[in-house]
Amino acid sequence: MNSTLKSIPNKQTAWTVLNRGNPSKALYLTTDWPVPKVLKTGEVLVKRPHVAEFDLAGVVVDGNGTDLSEGDQVYGFLGVGALSQYTSLPAAYLVKRPLDIPAIEAAGVPLAALTSYQALRLGKLESGQTIFINGGSSSLGAFAIQFAKARGAKVVATASTKNEAFVRRMGADEFIDYTKVGSLGKYLVQNLPITRYQVIYDAVGLVDPSLYSYSEKYLARDGVFITSGAIPKRLSMTEVLQFFGTAKARAIPAWLGGVNRRYE
Ligand SMILES: NC(=O)c1ccc[n+]([C@@H]2O[C@H](COP(=O)([O-])OP(=O)(O)OC[C@H]3O[C@@H](n4cnc5c(N)ncnc54)[C@H](OP(=O)(O)O)[C@@H]3O)[C@@H](O)[C@H]2O)c1
Repeated sequence: MNSTLKSIPNKQTAWTVLNRGNPSKALYLTTDWPVPKVLKTGEVLVKRPHVAEFDLAGVVVDGNGTDLSEGDQVYGFLGVGALSQYTSLPAAYLVKRPLDIPAIEAAGVPLAALTSYQALRLGKLESGQTIFINGGSSSLGAFAIQFAKARGAKVVATASTKNEAFVRRMGADEFIDYTKVGSLGKYLVQNLPITRYQVIYDAVGLVDPSLYSYSEKYLARDGVFITSGAIPKRLSMTEVLQFFGTAKARAIPAWLGGVNRRYE
């Protein structure tokens, strides 16, 4: 055990999860959570000045013989137990934080960025193709726009009026204000792109089912509709109807008149 580790307390303050729901109801602040001082091979111990859900940014206090050393400023991703002052995790889940990026901003990157990176890999988006991103102002959408542009693709993105400048700053070539067009699917049918979209990425979660159900008209035959998760969050009537609308559009096979486009 190195000398820094000896000075680390055995107990720490941590947010524990009592149940599902909003953070104010779901989280409980405990002051006697154990610090995971016994590390497995390949793990490091990190102290976290900034707390976020799965993501973290902090400073390594025990590098445990890995490529990371005590004092390294890092950020990364942890599936479980991230809301605490100290946490142990595989060194491979961390990268060194560029010092011009504040820790609190770095801690917001991993999960959202990785989710959108994965989505774009799934869509096999190539240079010159066009992606339609629904929710360009969401955390996922903002990363997706930048990844798509880095690949040389054209980006059409939606958001509300107040976020147009943000979405364009991220790199969107075209902007659609979803609050002004009604059914997005019907709007796109009436305003067909010159070349069909190769990927439609729903970066909102649960949307108007028309975006998928009309997609044969504007999504390439070998294209793909990717959603970050069409699951109701608030169990409102609108969300439940959207969920069943989407499920129905997916359930009917193409040979029975269903939507003949890949859905992921
Ligand atoms: N964040 C993550 O790390 C992560 C990881 C995996 C999955 N997810 C899932 O991905 C979805 C998005 O999460 P997020 O964290 O990126 O959300 P977020 O940052 O909270 O996104 C909120 C944004 O969604 C936009 N929006 C809301 N309704 C819309 C609509 N009908 N059409 C277009 N845009 C709309 C709003 O834009 P305006 O303000 O412009 O109206 C708002 O800015 C959720 O289902 C979440 O569960 C998130």
